[in-house]
Amino acid sequence: MKIIQLLSHFFSFSQSISSFNLEKQRSFIKEIASHYCKDRWAVRENISKELEPVISEYSKGIILDLGTGGGVILSILQEKGIPAVGVDVVGEMLKEAQLKGIRSLVQSDGVKLPFEDGIFSVVLLWGNTLGPIPGEDNRAALLQELRRVTSPDGFLAISVLNRFSSPLRALMPHEYTFLYKSRSNDWISKARGYNRYYSFGELKRQLKVAGFNNFYRLTKSSDSSLALLAYPN
Ligand SMILES: C[S@@+](CC[C@H](N)C(=O)[O-])C[C@H]1O[C@@H](n2cnc3c(N)ncnc32)[C@H](O)[C@@H]1O
Repeated sequence: MKIIQLLSHFFSFSQSISSFNLEKQRSFIKEIASHYCKDRWAVRENISKELEPVISEYSKGIILDLGTGGGVILSILQEKGIPAVGVDVVGEMLKEAQLKGIRSLVQSDGVKLPFEDGIFSVVLLWGNTLGPIPGEDNRAALLQELRRVTSPDGFLAISVLNRFSSPLRALMPHEYTFLYKSRSNDWISKARGYNRYYSFGELKRQLKVAGFNNFYRLTKSSDSSLALLAYPN
């Protein structure tokens, strides 16, 4: 009974997903910014391990960290001496990154980036940044813009949440709204956020439409995250 109460507290199956828009999502992100960033920095070591296969594929050039949030990924790259730029649309997130001493931050919407075509050797869309963007068209527009700024001999590294990580997970809705509960303390958001889980096939199809043609899968089918490298050529 407790599990059902807990699930219904965090997941709203009744709310209309289609009415959930970018504006609602961005005010949710502003509300959770400081708690979310604290939670991400607390698992910096795990994130660093997750990124190892991506970094080992990197050889030269500048990395774009799209949806940099509190800048934890940028801190890992900058510590390794890799030139990287972090972009986020939410100023509150960038303020958290600045408080951590992170440099090379740009506030911009990822669908209209202030960068030339093909300028980045690697684009990171990591830490489930695609899934929380409401609307298929908005996600497609972001992937298309990321393809534009990816070098023809570069790649996009993406991680989302895996829809088929377990039989129970597979039975649950792949789109839902939820209240954010901080991992660092008992704080729970008042506003709801949106999230979408993916299968490998769904993600690959969206990436193909955006102009990525070859894929290398980094995670196993039972892993909670689904991560892959997507190459234009
Ligand atoms: C789930 S967080 C991930 C943060 C970071 N990548 C990490 O792993 O800790 C997603 C971030 O993407 C940002 N974001 C969402 N849509 C965006 C867009 N269209 N352009 C730029 N940033 C965006 C959000 O503000 C948020 O900081």
